[in-house]
Amino acid sequence: MASALTGQQDYKCIAEKYSKNNAIQIKLGQQFVSLLELGYGQKVLDMGCGTGELTAYTANQVGFENVFGVDPDPNREVTELKLLFKLRETSVLHNFVFHWLNTHEKEEYLNRAVKCLKPGGRLAIHSADDWPQPIAALLEMAVAVSAMKPAPYFVGRTAVDSMCKELGFKILTSETLFYEYKFASVESFLAWTCATFYIDESKFSSLVEKERLMKFSDKDGSVIGK
Ligand SMILES: C[S@@+](CC[C@H](N)C(=O)[O-])C[C@H]1O[C@@H](n2cnc3c(N)ncnc32)[C@H](O)[C@@H]1O
Repeated sequence: MASALTGQQDYKCIAEKYSKNNAIQIKLGQQFVSLLELGYGQKVLDMGCGTGELTAYTANQVGFENVFGVDPDPNREVTELKLLFKLRETSVLHNFVFHWLNTHEKEEYLNRAVKCLKPGGRLAIHSADDWPQPIAALLEMAVAVSAMKPAPYFVGRTAVDSMCKELGFKILTSETLFYEYKFASVESFLAWTCATFYIDESKFSSLVEKERLMKFSDKDGSVIGK
């Protein structure tokens, strides 16, 4: 898989920062998981599980022995939750990962999901088709100074629905959710964005003046993205 993980960065450190600063996407992920109405004993594959907070949350609902989290970044994968069952899952969970896959990877991923799901199994995709300002603005700055590769491969909800339908999936629910991203300070905004998008933070900070980021903050110092 082509991925964002091909640069020369300290991925262990990034994973730690991601885990520490990512309460927002976990909260959004929990709302997403609740749509699945999971019950004890259902088997769940969390693909692109990151540092595993949402995997653990899911495990509390279905049982730890029933969840398998995988991630291409070995610093993130949650090894203690690993249980290799025969890739015949009840549900496959995909929280904030689909937009990291290029077109070919998306097709490959969906084809594999068809093969590994049990009859009646469900595929749940929570994907971004855009980022609110000022996150989008910071990403543009990071690409401009070569502190990150160009942003992921966004695709809208109706396009994802069509791809799934073509492979024979029945769409059970499809929704657009609107979120507010709130950061207490410019520092925490920068830390979250860098850890989430694999931005080289030291390179970014040395090439982008902090004053440029300060314009994103409100009077109380917080940064809000809608
Ligand atoms: C924003 S994080 C989301 C992690 C987790 N699902 C969560 O909700 O916290 C995106 C994850 O996608 C993974 N990823 C990046 N490129 C990928 C690819 N090509 N295939 C699968 N996963 C990928 C990253 O390693 C990262 O852990």
